[in-house]
Amino acid sequence: MKRAKITIIGAGNVGATCAHWAAAKELGDIVLVDIVEGLPQGKALDLFEASPIEGFDAAIVGANDYAATAGSDIVIITSGVPRKPGMSRDQLLETNTKIVADVTAKAAAASPDAILIVVSNPLDAMVFTAWKVSGFPTHRVLGQAGVLDTARYRSFIAAEIGCSVEDVQAMLLGGHGDDMVPLPRYTTVSGIPITQLIGPGKLEEIVTRTRNGGAEIVNLLKTGSAYYAPSAATVAMAEAIIRDKKRVLPCAAYCDEEYGGVGGYFVGVPCILGAGGVEKIIEVELDAREREMFNASVQHVRDLCEATKKFLPK
Ligand code: NAI
Ligand code: 2OP
Repeated sequence: MKRAKITIIGAGNVGATCAHWAAAKELGDIVLVDIVEGLPQGKALDLFEASPIEGFDAAIVGANDYAATAGSDIVIITSGVPRKPGMSRDQLLETNTKIVADVTAKAAAASPDAILIVVSNPLDAMVFTAWKVSGFPTHRVLGQAGVLDTARYRSFIAAEIGCSVEDVQAMLLGGHGDDMVPLPRYTTVSGIPITQLIGPGKLEEIVTRTRNGGAEIVNLLKTGSAYYAPSAATVAMAEAIIRDKKRVLPCAAYCDEEYGGVGGYFVGVPCILGAGGVEKIIEVELDAREREMFNASVQHVRDLCEATKKFLPK
């Protein structure tokens, strides 16, 4: 069977670590692209040289243009600047819209049938940018946020209970901002409702810590943002698509009529991910409080996307 071809744009912390996880899982051949000369080539060669030790087979190359990316099945976009302590994701809007628009145009031209997974921040607006610029159908454009945010939430819950992270199942909705909507009502530990295991005060603390999970790492690192968990999350999405696993994962997916009429924006919702990309959006029932939080988060995404429009190419 032909190996999948994965292009990763941006060979910085998230991009290079995506390449690492994807190669270790033998998801396919990998092309790393960056504007910095030598950086993607050096990291690709270094990773390739690890393959006899770790025992994975993958062709891994680096490039500064898009010729080598032609015919990719998946394009992961991580290019852009990360935030620094004190900055919000939204403050990256102008710089990253221009970068994401530029790289999307080039990658989409080289791989017109690819599925795009966007990681650059502010995430929900960058997925919107990639969709507008690529002209791809909505099921082939999605963003990574919810898999990371739920992983943080699941980790904190497992640490609190002292149980395996594997046994914590959770769902989270909305944009990738401080107003994301973790859903304790849809959180279980091997089927046991979380409310039977953790009291309301502690659970609220965990929800708040999850919302601030990105900032917590930025404040510790001081010179960049998180990348191990973000790249693992991105590669989990790529794996679901490449292996047609039909996984149910929270992704930034295009919602129009869904969830009470989002109105044509990309927001975090549970999706079935398979070979077709976003194969289905699952609508879960929300109570009044959850609905209110979701609506506020969606409004933030709408405002950000409207602000993005002035930086998009005409
Ligand atoms: P980084 O600074 O380590 O890497 C970014 C790379 O993009 C750099 O190597 C840079 O040279 C490259 N780049 C910039 N302009 C480019 C262009 N026009 N073409 C090709 N490459 C270009 O940053 P890091 O930590 O990898 O983060 C990347 C982005 O991902 C940031 O915007 C960050 O906020 C976002 N992020 C999003 C997460 C999410 O959950 N959605 C999680 C973590 C990071
Ligand atoms: C995070 O949540 C920076 O969005 C990135 O870690």
